Amino acid sequence: MFAWLEKRPFFFAVVLFLVIAYAGVIENLPHFTEQARPVEGTKPYTPLELAGRHVYIKDSCNACHSQLIRPFKSETDRYGMYSLSGEYAYDRPFLWGSKRTGPDLMRVGNYRTTDWHENHMWEPISVVPKSIMPAYKHMFTKNADLETAYAEAYTVKKVFSVPYDEEGMPKLGNWEEAKEQMFKEAKVIVDKMKNQEVKDAFAKGEIRQIVAMIAYLNSLK
Ligand code: HEC
Repeated sequence: MFAWLEKRPFFFAVVLFLVIAYAGVIENLPHFTEQARPVEGTKPYTPLELAGRHVYIKDSCNACHSQLIRPFKSETDRYGMYSLSGEYAYDRPFLWGSKRTGPDLMRVGNYRTTDWHENHMWEPISVVPKSIMPAYKHMFTKNADLETAYAEAYTVKKVFSVPYDEEGMPKLGNWEEAKEQMFKEAKVIVDKMKNQEVKDAFAKGEIRQIVAMIAYLNSLK
């Protein structure tokens, strides 16, 4: 049989491929049948938080900040519990990052607050005198893209069965209703802010990027 194969290079290549691929198939196929398994307490992002996450990606915050706490004492002392894979179940794409010019932000919601972020994003050196982080003043004048965030939430719900139907999660399916919920969520943040331009815009029915960004940063726990 092998002599027959050896005289037919094409079939030989096919059989060789199958033999080698077999191990890969055995190893990888089971993963396709598994659902993402979120750690208990891990919630999908609300559309407002997703809008903030989009700004985070667009402005490349992940170029300087990781979101992955390694299981070393020096890291857990500073940032808290090390990261578990199930905590990223709703991160698409995940933002682990590979460079820490600034600190890890995986659990920044546990120790920084809305007003702190407001001051820091406007002018980092006003709260951290030696900071080399750039200021992000433009977030205070540009609007968050709520439609795209809503569309993403709606899509991952449909395609990946992300459990937005669970108790306490924003309802998706009706844009007007979802928008109302986004404004309710944003109001809590805007009320704690002092920037008049952001407040005036909100009163006119606009949500600035900074509001979505703070919603996102507060959700990182
Ligand atoms: C050029 C690198 C760089 C970029 C880009 C950058 N940061 Fe930073 N960031 C830093 C550095 C350095 C610090 C530490 C000093 C400080 O607190 O300002 C920091 C600190 C922070 C902190 C405080 C964390 C803590 O535990 O005290 C937050 C929150 C933060 N950055 C958010 C962001 C967000 C959101 C963006 C994107 C809009 C961003 N950063 C972009 C470098 C960067």
